[in-house]
Amino acid sequence: MLDQARGCRAPAADVVAHAHVNAADYDRMYAESIADPDAFWGREGRTLDWVTPFSRVKNTDMTLGQVSIRWFEDGVLNASVNCIDRHLPTRADQTAIIWEPDDPADPAQHITYAQLSENVNRFANVLLSQGVMRGDRVVIYLPMIPEAAYAMLACARIGAIHSVVFAGFSPDSLANRINDCQAKLVITADTAPRGGRRTPLKSNADAALLRCSEKVRCLVVKHTGDQISWIEGRDVDVKALMRTAAPDCPPRPMGAEDPLFILYTSGSTGRPKGVVHSTAGYLLYAAMTHRLVFDYHEGDVYWCTADVGWVTGHSYIVYGPLANGGTTLMFEGTPNFPDAGRFWEVVAKHRVTQFYTAPTAIRALMGQGEEWPARHDLSSLRILGSVGEPINPEAWNWFDRHVGHGRCPIVDTFWQTETGGHMITPLPGAIPTKPGSATKPFFGVRPAVLDPTTGAELTGEAEGVLAIADSWPGQMRTLWGDHERFEEAYFSQYPGTYFTGDGCRRDADGYYWITGRVDDVLNISGHRMGTAEIESALVAHRDVAEAAVVGVPHDIKGQGIYAYVTLMNGVEPGEDLRADLVKWVRAEIGPIATPDFLQWAPGLPKTRSGKIMRRILRKIAEDDFGSLGDTSTLADPAVVDDLIANRQNRG
Ligand code: PRX
Repeated sequence: MLDQARGCRAPAADVVAHAHVNAADYDRMYAESIADPDAFWGREGRTLDWVTPFSRVKNTDMTLGQVSIRWFEDGVLNASVNCIDRHLPTRADQTAIIWEPDDPADPAQHITYAQLSENVNRFANVLLSQGVMRGDRVVIYLPMIPEAAYAMLACARIGAIHSVVFAGFSPDSLANRINDCQAKLVITADTAPRGGRRTPLKSNADAALLRCSEKVRCLVVKHTGDQISWIEGRDVDVKALMRTAAPDCPPRPMGAEDPLFILYTSGSTGRPKGVVHSTAGYLLYAAMTHRLVFDYHEGDVYWCTADVGWVTGHSYIVYGPLANGGTTLMFEGTPNFPDAGRFWEVVAKHRVTQFYTAPTAIRALMGQGEEWPARHDLSSLRILGSVGEPINPEAWNWFDRHVGHGRCPIVDTFWQTETGGHMITPLPGAIPTKPGSATKPFFGVRPAVLDPTTGAELTGEAEGVLAIADSWPGQMRTLWGDHERFEEAYFSQYPGTYFTGDGCRRDADGYYWITGRVDDVLNISGHRMGTAEIESALVAHRDVAEAAVVGVPHDIKGQGIYAYVTLMNGVEPGEDLRADLVKWVRAEIGPIATPDFLQWAPGLPKTRSGKIMRRILRKIAEDDFGSLGDTSTLADPAVVDDLIANRQNRG
């Protein structure tokens, strides 16, 4: 089935026969979704369970100065009802969540829809008892435990807006998010086991709360039973309250456009941005993409290895699978604990049918050798998925051969926190794959390849930047508390379109190849990180006068963090200081922001107007000194020679 000449693999006959969507369906449905979005999405929208059905489908405007994205706007519904209650008549005893703990010696949990319902209702009543009301913000800082899903759905049930903060973020990062959305309470756990080690989440939350309003309460899930400090009156034992809370809590009817959640993500400038997603449009888009892209069917066991702290965990561990009445696996651990076979052991143990992970994990496991997947029975797998960064052909082929045994389509899904769900992706029974290409747009998505300078839309085979020319239901609605920044960040570059920030190529077959960010956003192991955030962490150190951060290619992580640091007058560079600065950044932001390289820079290359020339810094970091381009516009061209001379002097 492999068309060697074009590197293209058509779906096998059994995959096509089983799939929800075949090639002819795709063409027909895609054409309709673009030509008549009201008809297409109106029909899809009715697959949700509504309290009051919508009468209007699409009402969107992407014109700078008046951006307004509204879908199904007069409909009324509740997201938790769609993820739980509507399944109870037919699947109360079906497993909703399989929870696999960090330590394989501990038992896995199978949580049925009936149990999910009871836990979410009790959790919702606990939130109400703490004074959480419709529209209030609740920050969730939890590890990968079922309570994370309960907490999210409990918020949805009472109309509170959750904001999950990845448990790997530092107290400072947590405090910034709590303050930005003015959360009423934060939900955390005592400690979080991962890879055999424990993260002190509650003590991180304690440190964060020192920087927040005294009114913010702290709900604690006692997960490990580890010793923690406790502030009477502020800290609340969730499990104890859940035991006595009522097992039913009436769902709050919510407007389609009421925010479901805020999720902070990095931009090219300033602090992380609070991306706001809606109730109906988001939920529908997450559910539909989950069903069609992973070709999810009754009885499947679907596993996404992301963390609920990222959008992938929101859409494809919690909301998408549960809205579809599916069985979703939640894994507390890491790919290499207790050994490099853990993923494959879990696949075999739970007979996983869809496995969705990130290229960085595949590359890391690839390095451990093919004997690890070979030791486990992977015959249950049907579909493999990849997300977060471009997947290099070597990783694609290894995944295909050693995990999928050549029989599982690989869906390389391109999307973003802002898009709510998949944007460009294969559908397993419809679209032949090419290693490294995210292939074709999902329904309703109109990719536009633009000339980066003129903004003109390029047709046919082309390379440029990627914008989306019309709205889709999963699109973010605004940035929390800052609609102006929302318009500026996404709609000001290429008028009338949503700008992704990614570069992109479209080949002769109309396939899309994402080439990576064209702005100052890094992608470290599939995690988004703004260079500006790392720079501001560095300059907050008393010995640092100035810093500039760029990305460099990294074999496992995709991109690594390369920092240039100018020290204060009189401060001597040295190995101790270097180690101290690396530690400092980890403490300020979190371990994912750890600089891989740190080079002392007596000066930074700047234009006469003071703008740092990152292009030059990137080239130097990559040892590419031959093509630095025009340096004559620099205020002081000699700094470049210094930096090149110092290039070997790095950590
Ligand atoms: O650069 C693209 C890359 O990840 C960015 C979005 O990051 P984030 O909002 O954290 O969401 C990650 C999970 C959806 C994009 O702008 N990216 C994501 N998926 C792919 C990708 N690049 C290439 N191929 C992908 N499949």
